[in-house]
Amino acid sequence: MDFYIVSAFPEMVAGPLKQSMLKRAQDRGLVDYHFYNLRDYGIGKHQQIDDYPYGGGAGMVLKPEPIITCVEKIIESIPADSYKIIWLSPEGVTFQQKKAIELATCEHLILICGHYKGIDERVRIYFSPIDISIGNYILSSGEIAALVVIDSIVRLIPGVLNDFDSAMTDSFQSELLDYAHYTRPAIYRDMAVPEVLMKGNHAEIQAWRHKIATERTIKKKNTESDGK
Ligand SMILES: C[S@@+](CC[C@H](N)C(=O)[O-])C[C@H]1O[C@@H](n2cnc3c(N)ncnc32)[C@H](O)[C@@H]1O
Repeated sequence: MDFYIVSAFPEMVAGPLKQSMLKRAQDRGLVDYHFYNLRDYGIGKHQQIDDYPYGGGAGMVLKPEPIITCVEKIIESIPADSYKIIWLSPEGVTFQQKKAIELATCEHLILICGHYKGIDERVRIYFSPIDISIGNYILSSGEIAALVVIDSIVRLIPGVLNDFDSAMTDSFQSELLDYAHYTRPAIYRDMAVPEVLMKGNHAEIQAWRHKIATERTIKKKNTESDGK
C-alpha cells in the first residue's frame, strides 16, 4: 500500500514514520510513504503556497494551485480507480476503526494536510475527497491527523504486526472494548493480579474478560453521552 503525503511540512510526518511498526512495515515492503512538499509547487519566485482570504478575516489560506497541481501529478503516476484522496479537516466525519478497516484495502492513499486557516475550498470541489476529522478539537495542521490515520491503517495490513491476532482483538474491532491486561509481577505495590487469570481455567478467564470488556464499553458509552 502506498501513502502520498501532501503537506507544507512533510518532515512532521516523515519523522514518526521512521519509527517502530510504521518503519517495520516499510522495511518489509508492505507499505511505502511518499512525501510531497507543497513549496515545490508554490507560485512565483517565492514559491508562495498561501494567501490572504477573500472577504477578509484572520489567518492565511492555502492556495488551490499548488495542491491541485501536486495531487494531479500523483494521480497521473498511479492507475485510475486505485486510489482515494483524503482531506484532513475538522469538519470531516470523525475517524473510526471501521473507516481504518475500509481504507486498509486501498492500494494508494493520498492525504492532503491543511495548515493556517485552512485550504481553498476549490480543492474540495475539484477532487471531492473523503473528509476525515480525528476529533472535535483543532490542531495547528493536518500532519498529525494524517499520522493518526496512517498508523491506524498500517497496523491492519497483514504481515505488519508480528502478532496479527492481537490487532484483531483490539478495541473497536468488535462491539466491545478491550478487557484489562496484566503481566508479571503477580503483586506490585500491594496490587494483585485478579486470581482468575492465574488459575489457568480458560473458560473462566474468557468469561472474566468478557465481563470486564462489557463493563468498560457501557462505562465509556455513558461518560461520552454525559459529555464527560
Ligand atoms: C488550524 S486548522 C484550521 C481550522 C479551521 N479554520 C476550522 O476552524 O475548522 C489547520 C489544519 O489543521 C488540520 N486539522 C485541524 N484540526 C483537525 C482535526 N480535528 N482533524 C483533522 N484535521 C485537522 C486541517 O488540515 C486544517 O486545515
